[in-house]
Amino acid sequence: MDRRPLGRSELVIEPLVLGGNVFGWTVDEKQGFEILDAFVEAGFTAIDTAEGYPNWVPGNPPGMSETIIGKWMKERGNRADVHIFTKVNSANKPGGLKADAVKQGFEESLKRLQTDYVDLYFSHWPDPEASHEETLGAMDTLVRSGRVRVIGASNYTAEMVRDAQETAVIKSLQRYEVLQPRFNLYDRAEFDALRDTVLENEIGTIVYYSLASGFLTGKYRSKADFGQSPRGGGVERYLDAKGEKILAALDKVAANNDATPAEVSLAWLVAQPGVSAPIASATSVEQVKSLAKGVRLKLSDEDLQTLTEAGK
Ligand SMILES: NC(=O)c1ccc[n+]([C@@H]2O[C@H](COP(=O)([O-])OP(=O)(O)OC[C@H]3O[C@@H](n4cnc5c(N)ncnc54)[C@H](OP(=O)(O)O)[C@@H]3O)[C@@H](O)[C@H]2O)c1
Repeated sequence: MDRRPLGRSELVIEPLVLGGNVFGWTVDEKQGFEILDAFVEAGFTAIDTAEGYPNWVPGNPPGMSETIIGKWMKERGNRADVHIFTKVNSANKPGGLKADAVKQGFEESLKRLQTDYVDLYFSHWPDPEASHEETLGAMDTLVRSGRVRVIGASNYTAEMVRDAQETAVIKSLQRYEVLQPRFNLYDRAEFDALRDTVLENEIGTIVYYSLASGFLTGKYRSKADFGQSPRGGGVERYLDAKGEKILAALDKVAANNDATPAEVSLAWLVAQPGVSAPIASATSVEQVKSLAKGVRLKLSDEDLQTLTEAGK
């Protein structure tokens, strides 16, 4: 398969990252294990989670996604065979990206994950109260101790990334090697604004909401379709003229390629300059198989162009 390096780091992955926000939300532990098994059986290794997933579910203990992934790795004895990406400074967590919060958040994540290292550790959201020097300093200590391999930043603007890179050079600290912005056929602005910075600085990018929370699978064509998932209502904002144009293009390209709209959406992402890999979650083994097929699908230039034009 088309393995890709993440930035200038030592991490090299197949171009699909499994989204972990569903574990403890739309997927329970047993289903989670099945999904994780199917993902590695399909030849992939990278799993994305966060200290805050899915803390929005009432009654959940903190970090259930990390806990489920940790139990799965322990039971399977496969820690060395997978890449674990997690994040600090998730919603409603006090301390933001201050050094103490990074240090403490990391220890708690490690405990839940039942491991002694993380492959890729992200600043989940920017924190205007913490300087880049403070956050990068805390992360640099974790890398030097051998417990974090590579660091990254999520939801940062190009300006924030450039400032952080400059700080890393001036202060001789680890730099953010990987970014995690939102990007999909519908939502393009955030990554479009980052692309030049990413390419110029050889930074890896794994993009989230690859399927626009399920909208790009084509299963939501009107509000009447929302009942298909607890997440249905979350795609309402896509039901507009632009969304319809994208679904029409997806249907056409899917028919040309004997594929589904979800698979075509991922194939388009994998082909975009600056994208190292899409992140997508799944709630069944069938969906995992479809995600795997999608990132391996090669679309013609004409099909790629049709899709690009549809979402402009
Ligand atoms: N850094 C950040 O701030 C941030 C923010 C959000 C997400 N993320 C990361 O990105 C990951 C992905 O985001 P996401 O899970 O919210 O959205 P997504 O990948 O855009 O949508 C995935 C959802 O679509 C449905 N689906 C997947 N494959 C399908 C298929 N073949 N056919 C039909 N339906 C399918 C499933 O939900 P149903 O079966 O329920 O329909 C699945 O949970 C997260 O898990 C997380 O790791 C990061």
